[in-house]
Amino acid sequence: MMTPPVLTPAALRAVTESEVAREPGFLQDLQRALAAPPHAISPKYFYDAEGSRLFDRICGLPEYYPTRTERSILAMYAGDIAQEIGTGCDLVEFGAGSCSKVRLLLDALRPRRYLPIDISAEHLEQSAAELEREHPGLLVLPVAGDYTKTVHLPPRLAGAPRLGFFPGSTIGNFTPAEWLQFLRMAARLLRGGGLLLGADLVKDPAVLHAAYNDAQGVTAAFNLNLLARANRELGADFDLDAFWHSSFYNAAEGRIEMHLVSRRHQRVSLDGETYELEEGLAIHTENSYKFTIAGLRRLAEQAGFRPGAVWTDPRRLFSVHWLRAPERE
Ligand code: AVJ
Repeated sequence: MMTPPVLTPAALRAVTESEVAREPGFLQDLQRALAAPPHAISPKYFYDAEGSRLFDRICGLPEYYPTRTERSILAMYAGDIAQEIGTGCDLVEFGAGSCSKVRLLLDALRPRRYLPIDISAEHLEQSAAELEREHPGLLVLPVAGDYTKTVHLPPRLAGAPRLGFFPGSTIGNFTPAEWLQFLRMAARLLRGGGLLLGADLVKDPAVLHAAYNDAQGVTAAFNLNLLARANRELGADFDLDAFWHSSFYNAAEGRIEMHLVSRRHQRVSLDGETYELEEGLAIHTENSYKFTIAGLRRLAEQAGFRPGAVWTDPRRLFSVHWLRAPERE
């Protein structure tokens, strides 16, 4: 016999909040993506609680090499990196999330402060407290904000140059115009210090293809979660079985593209509107650009950095760049 779930007041509150809490912009951006070409939406909407959980699973997949490879580079070269950059810096991380990669650097870099910037302040507070416990003497000051816009950092520390940390090849999600915009902002913010930047590299398309079309279908679930999220959060009625996960390497653009492709002619309703989707209509959900080492250095230079050392793995799958930000350009 089925017994109805007993909802405590706290559980009730959680249910209501998760149904009501809408990411600002999601409805409008999804409406736009459904209504007209180019039928594209920002990958930032992948990351609700479920999407973040799926992304964590992606990071552990055998085919998904970026996370594992970047971690191995940071762990292997933490000492070299500290030698290049110097200890006692003011360390700023863009999009810190759970602060897991910075842990690989803290013992070698011994920063005076660690300023993780993330949209979700709540998540940050927790990781910050943990980090301070693990590293006595380290001051952790979480900064809530969107680092793709303007960030407001606490005043500079005398004698501690600002070091930016932007791992994960998150920069690959930006458009070429946004690369420059972000890097120029970072070069200004980090004047007198520099940026440690993780960038995924151009490689055999078969390796790329496998990384974004894993055998267990976790990447497909991650992509489809965008529609599942719209159902949960916006009351849409997407039938998840009526869409394919499509992911391929676009060599001309140097990027992996992910799309959600309508398997048949169908109607979807969202916020009182009905949208007709033709069979084969593709909603473009993500670009993940791949870089060459030389190309990335040129880009950094254009944005006002002086490219320094580069660390990579033996298979040259992934790269970590030290980009100096001169005192004055
Ligand atoms: C978090 C943007 C670096 O592009 O590899 C993983 C996201 N998408 N699998 C990437 C992602 C599909 C990831 N980034």
